[in-house]
Amino acid sequence: MTTGRFIALEGGEGAGKSTQARLLAEALRGKGLDVVTTREPGGTAGAEAIRTLLLNGVEGDGGESWNPRAEALLFAAARSDHVHRLIRPALARGAWVICDRYFDSSRAYQGGGGGLSDADISTLHAIGSEGLLPDLTLLVEVSPSIAVERLALRDTEGSDRIGGRDRAYHARVAGAFAAFAETEPARFARIDGNGNPQETHALILAALAPLLS
Ligand code: TYD
Repeated sequence: MTTGRFIALEGGEGAGKSTQARLLAEALRGKGLDVVTTREPGGTAGAEAIRTLLLNGVEGDGGESWNPRAEALLFAAARSDHVHRLIRPALARGAWVICDRYFDSSRAYQGGGGGLSDADISTLHAIGSEGLLPDLTLLVEVSPSIAVERLALRDTEGSDRIGGRDRAYHARVAGAFAAFAETEPARFARIDGNGNPQETHALILAALAPLLS
């Protein structure tokens, strides 16, 4: 039996990760593998409840809801439930887990964007999820103009509490992701997401080839 693998897709808003997660899952199932697709924040009932809080905020608090540290703790709490109830059991039975966003989103958004240190984000991850890391993290990168075009098509009813933050915040997020890939090349595969979905999918399959042989 093939050993289960844990693959995360990361990137900024409008990078096309969700489409790629679906195409990748179909391709792996076509090879006869047991595949679980999931997302963060969310993936379990408990984590989806935290997702709703995080993305919608709470009424009557004047807008921003939680400070950056509280926000990081909520993401870590959602991840803890997700890892404990879904990701670890799936890997243990030999499934492949494809996760749309994971730990590196906390490093990029709450760290790069929100100003928490990378050490603090890693500590939360160690406490919440015993530091579980993906076998490979696919960083899907698109030019800012393509991201804006895709978001205009997707977010016709407006963006959520985090997606709607200003350009400077999202520029810091993109810079943080690029820096992680630069300094941790063994953990990341950088994927050019500017092409059409099939072109990007082909790049992802090529990046995964070493794990499939
Ligand atoms: P989602 O609609 O899933 O975004 P996208 O389609 O762009 O992936 O919303 C998830 C949002 O949560 C997104 O703005 C990124 C943010 N996020 C964090 O800030 N920290 C995290 O740890 C995770 C997992 C997501």
